[in-house]
Amino acid sequence: MDRNRSRSPVTSSHRHYSPSRREAGNWRKNNFDGEHLGAANHHQYQSSAAPEQSPRRSQTLSTRREVYERDFPLYKQPVEVGSFSLDSQRRFFNDSRQLRYYVEPGRNPNFDLRDGYRERYVRRDENVKEKLDHILRWILANRSKLKSKLAANASCPLDFDFVTWRGHLTKLLTTPYETKEGWLLAVTRFKGTLYISEVETEAARRERENRPERNKEMMYWGYKFEQYMCADNADGEPDPGGVVNTNEAFCTVVQTRLTDHRLLFSGEVDCRDRDPDAPAPPACYVELKTSAEICAPKQRSNFHRFKLLKWWAQSFLPGVPKVVAGFRDHDGIVVSVETFQISKISQLIKNEHNCWKPTVCMNFCCDFLSFVKREATADNPSVVYLFSWEPHKDVTYSVHRDSQYSFLPNWYIKEMTSSPE
Ligand code: A3P
Ligand code: MG
Repeated sequence: MDRNRSRSPVTSSHRHYSPSRREAGNWRKNNFDGEHLGAANHHQYQSSAAPEQSPRRSQTLSTRREVYERDFPLYKQPVEVGSFSLDSQRRFFNDSRQLRYYVEPGRNPNFDLRDGYRERYVRRDENVKEKLDHILRWILANRSKLKSKLAANASCPLDFDFVTWRGHLTKLLTTPYETKEGWLLAVTRFKGTLYISEVETEAARRERENRPERNKEMMYWGYKFEQYMCADNADGEPDPGGVVNTNEAFCTVVQTRLTDHRLLFSGEVDCRDRDPDAPAPPACYVELKTSAEICAPKQRSNFHRFKLLKWWAQSFLPGVPKVVAGFRDHDGIVVSVETFQISKISQLIKNEHNCWKPTVCMNFCCDFLSFVKREATADNPSVVYLFSWEPHKDVTYSVHRDSQYSFLPNWYIKEMTSSPE
């Protein structure tokens, strides 16, 4: 799920985002120091049970917004280290064959998002849980590229603290503002790297299995919009008469750092700027979205408070600079298309009273990763620390050995254990 030609200071501000000081030259001033991190930890790890009885299970992490209102943490500009594709049958390819190209729509698009729902829609099987498998395949296929000073050390073959999907990080960023849906994140420490893989909650499974027909159709609308807006080649045109197959995906793999957490994550990218002179990835990528048309002030306020939070979090993480949104009516007709620069979203929402703040999102994510690092200490591929969160509660966790939650496949463990490269 993840093409801006400008190299202006605003564009580069996401190298180290600061809502108050957006000039690129100022970013070093906002560095998040170790002292600050230490103080934050001290406040947020609380004991809720007698420590001598069960010290592990007593650890919790607050998700209250006010705890995370501090300077924006250091977030290095994400660098694309590779990409991969999943074809119409969800087969993995270590290349960009599924990358599509953004085609600017006409003045009056009038796209019918319902077209083809019954006849030209192949839906990915959501019962198949892929966990981190595609990313792990990519890591094995690109080990030489990822080799570092630590690579010679067999006990620490990967130079990253965390490996995960972008979508899991998006959920963490939005947690302090989420009031409806909880999450479960399985964490395994293996050769020094922490792998984070989501587990579907019971509530999410029930919702998925009982999705009303209208919601099923509306899920299609987002993909259909992509088809209207993308071509398979840089000089091609969209093919709205084709099949929408949601098995197909192009994923970027980026590396970055959030304070002292070295991250490697992957996220789906909808398309890229078709200009060959556009900046290098991820700066040339474009995220596509659909949303209900805005007809009243209350709808605009909700759009700012809820939609823009999710859109910002999803694209900010991998350094995707813009979202192109199709606003549609109740019948799925796109009535307008608007571009949102990710670096300008915090300005757009500043008049909303008591609105979400990027710094709260990033500081919570950062502290969650510190919490995971501190608690998930056993380096064992069959041990899972299951972190769990429900709205209005603290984050808690439980530990599971050789359970249904284990997610690192044997082929990955074997390859990472046996060969140095
Ligand atoms: P929208 O983007 O218009 O919401 P993404 O935007 O992340 O690339 O995802 C593409 C489309 O997948 C979405 O279009 C939506 O139709 C569908 N989709 C993704 N996540 C979803 C979710 N959690 N629930 C329902 N639909 C989802
Ligand atoms: Mg999209």
